[in-house]
This record gives sequence, C-alpha cells and structure tokens, in this order.
Amino acid sequence: MSDKKYDFGLVGLGVMGRNFILNVSDNNFTAFGHDTDQEKVDALIEEGGNAQKVNASTDLKTFVDALSVPRKIMLLVPAGKIVDIVIESLIPHLDKGDIIIDGGNSFYTDTDRRDAYLEEKGIHFFGAGVSGGAKGARKGPSIMPGGDAEAYKVVQPIFEAVSAKYKGEPCVAYMGRKSAGNYVKMVHNGIEYGLMQLTSEIYDLLKKAGGLTNEELHKTYAEWNEGRLQSFLVEITADIFTEKDDKGEGDLVDKILDKAKQKGTGKWTSQNAMDLGIPVPSIDIAVSMREISALKDERIIADELYGKPTPEAIDKAELIKLAEEALYFAYIVTYAQGLHQLTDASKEYDYGCDIAVIAKIWRAGCIIRAALLADITDAYNDNPELKNLLLAPAFVEKVTSTVDSARNLVAYAAKSGIPVPGLSNSLTYFDAYTSSRLPLNLIQAQRDYFGSHTYERLDMEGIFHTEWEAE
Ligand code: 6PG
Repeated sequence: MSDKKYDFGLVGLGVMGRNFILNVSDNNFTAFGHDTDQEKVDALIEEGGNAQKVNASTDLKTFVDALSVPRKIMLLVPAGKIVDIVIESLIPHLDKGDIIIDGGNSFYTDTDRRDAYLEEKGIHFFGAGVSGGAKGARKGPSIMPGGDAEAYKVVQPIFEAVSAKYKGEPCVAYMGRKSAGNYVKMVHNGIEYGLMQLTSEIYDLLKKAGGLTNEELHKTYAEWNEGRLQSFLVEITADIFTEKDDKGEGDLVDKILDKAKQKGTGKWTSQNAMDLGIPVPSIDIAVSMREISALKDERIIADELYGKPTPEAIDKAELIKLAEEALYFAYIVTYAQGLHQLTDASKEYDYGCDIAVIAKIWRAGCIIRAALLADITDAYNDNPELKNLLLAPAFVEKVTSTVDSARNLVAYAAKSGIPVPGLSNSLTYFDAYTSSRLPLNLIQAQRDYFGSHTYERLDMEGIFHTEWEAE
C-alpha cells in the first residue's frame, strides 16, 4: 500500500456497501473498505481493479490507518445492535474530530443516542439515509444526511459527487438537526410501502376483474410510466411482468409466494405517526397488508369458507382508465400523508426540515422517485408553510380530476370482493380531510355521556359537561 491516505472509509462490504464504495471511487475519491469477511474484501479489491483508488482490509487498524484525517467513515451495516458493535470497535482507533456516518436504516432515536455518546468522545456522528437499492448505491442514490452540520460539510463534496442527479442537481442535501436524516429516510420508506401497496392493488384489479395477461399488464404499466405516473416503482412493475420463470414454465411473477416481508421502517413510520397524532392511513394499511399476507394458511381456509363474489363485467379499456386515474390520486394522497408527518415531526423534534428540499432530493435516485415529486417540490417552494399537500392550489385540479375514478374503483372492488385497502384508505382520508363537518361530535357526546370527559361547543367558548341520563 502506498503512503497516500484514502479520502473515504466504508465499513460493511455487503451489496450496498460494495456498490457505494465503488461509486465513490468512480467519482475520483480514493476509498478504503472494511469487512470482517475476507471474501467480501477480496471481491471489492478485484472489482475495484486499482488498489490506489479503492482498497480494503479485514483488519480494522489497517483500515483506520489508511484513511486521511479527519477520517470520514461510513457504516453500511444492518440497523440495530451491529451498528453499536461497529462503533465500539472503531472508537479506540479514532482521533478527535473524526467522523462516523451511519448510512443504514437506523431507528432515529438510536441515532440521537449514538450522537450524544460519540460527542462526549469528540467524535462527530451523523445519520444519512441512503435510498436506491444496489443499483442506486452504484450509479447514484438519493442521500438524506442530518445531524452534525459541520461534519456534514466535510463529507458534502463526496456525497454530492456520488448522489443521483436530477437535471444536474445532486439528490443530496442537509435534512436537518439531530436524527433528521434517519427520520426522513424512515418516512421515505413509509411512503414507499404505501405506493407499493397501491401499485399491487391496481395489479390485482386489472388481473382479476379486467383479465389482463402479464403481457397486457406490462404494456399498461409501461404506458403509465410514460405519463404523469412516471416513477421508479411503476417502471420496475412494468419490467417484472416480462420476467420468465427460469425454474419452470410461465412467468416468474405468478410463481412468487404472496407473503410480503418487512424490515420495520414502514411500521416505525406508522407507529411514530400515531405518537405524533398525524393520520397516515395509506401507510398504516400497507403495513397491515404485509401482516395479512403473512397469514397465508388461514387465508386459504377462509377463502374456502366464504368464497368471493364474481367480479361484475367491466370494459377493459374503461378499467385501465379508471385504474390510472385512481392510482395517480392515491399516490398524491400517500405523499401528502408522509409529508404531513415530516412537517409535524420537524417541529416536534426540532429538526428544522425544509420539505421542499426533501421533495427535491427525492426526484431522482430513491425508490419513491416520481414525476410527481417535481410538482410537490414546486408546491412547497411556493408555500414553505404548507400544512398538507392537498391544500396546495396546484394540486386541487390534479385531485378533483381523478378522485371520481378512485370512488368508482373502490365501489367496484368492494362489490367484487377484491381488497383495495390502500385505495379506499386514501379515498377515505381524502373525504375526511376535506369534510368541514365530521360526526365526531357524537363521539364527544358519548365520551361525555359515559365518562364525563367534557366537550366543546361550536357556538360558544368553554368546556362543557352534561348530565345525560335522566335521574
Ligand atoms: C431504499 C429502500 C431500502 C429498504 C428496502 C426494504 O430506499 O433503498 O427503502 O432502504 O431497506 O426497501 O424494505 P422492507 O424490507 O422493509 O420492505
């Protein structure tokens, strides 16, 4: 190894880590990796091709000594205990002023705890959400750093170089104080769950009610991807329908077990939204649907017990049109909920997030990138105080012109026994959010009736209680 020190260090040479570090070296920064697995170290050195540019070692001291100071060390290891173990093992080798960046999907309170712990030792620490999967890590992810702003500035040139670009603009920006980076990534994933659920429901309708073949499904999603629904998730969905089964006859999608796994970020988004008191039903139901999907054995028994209505005949072209409009409507509502949560969390946790900046760096690189995000960015730039995307003047027409299709499709699906909970939750959220009067006055009356919980009135100030039961 030459004496020249490397610009950037990365711990965890799994799929994401290896791709990220190669991306760093593609962008003319030298990088050194570390993993305890010799095979992963060897694989990186071989793929890197030039040890002066990208190198790696299983030995932690060799790794730390190879880095220029202040050391910039990114962790791309599974969230949870392993992050703490890696940090603990690094500490004895580091100098004051060195920087550790957690690039995994860590829970935001863990990031705050680690930040406080490392600050005592004079080591900078911040969390940075990284989205885009393996390909994104290699070719340009969307990166969501938060926390120590001074430390971020040191890493900023590297992150800006490796990130995805939207019309030349890097898809990375400082998200806010403390654990803002991990928090923003968590909500990104919550939205990701919501959009994936919606996309799969529409597939179900097109297949079960419209009888679309995989070829037709491919064509439909591919066409949608040319229009206002253009997005990474619609694009890969179109692609999925073309994949043949390499282990047998037919198409792969039809052979995949319908039980969706999860690593927890969607659930965290929902749980935290409940804590904040912010409704995100399109995300909640996406988590619940993964849970229902896991009950495969019970679902098979129940299916036999109850059966299903036969879907009413529907014109295929009409169904495709309704589906496109309904999906567009529900995508908007799902982004609206996630961004509402971020708006509130930013205040609650003192992150200082700029929602327009978040939407801006989601326009490319990340899993939820979509043409819609350009409009969302504009809406928050026009009004940085926007409480909810549905209140943005530019979105009123987009929503009013598509909501009727969502209504028709939800009604049709209900009559046909096809579950569309993401779509119906998005519609119900919309109908509730846009109702100046809800029946929750009755709930207040009930609460006061049985528990003397009191109520407020429409026509006068104050707190009231009524003796409801006649003596
Ligand atoms: C990304 C993704 C990624 C996430 C996977 C899997 O932005 O690149 O969000 O970080 O880990 O999507 O999540 P689940 O296993 O929970 O579906």
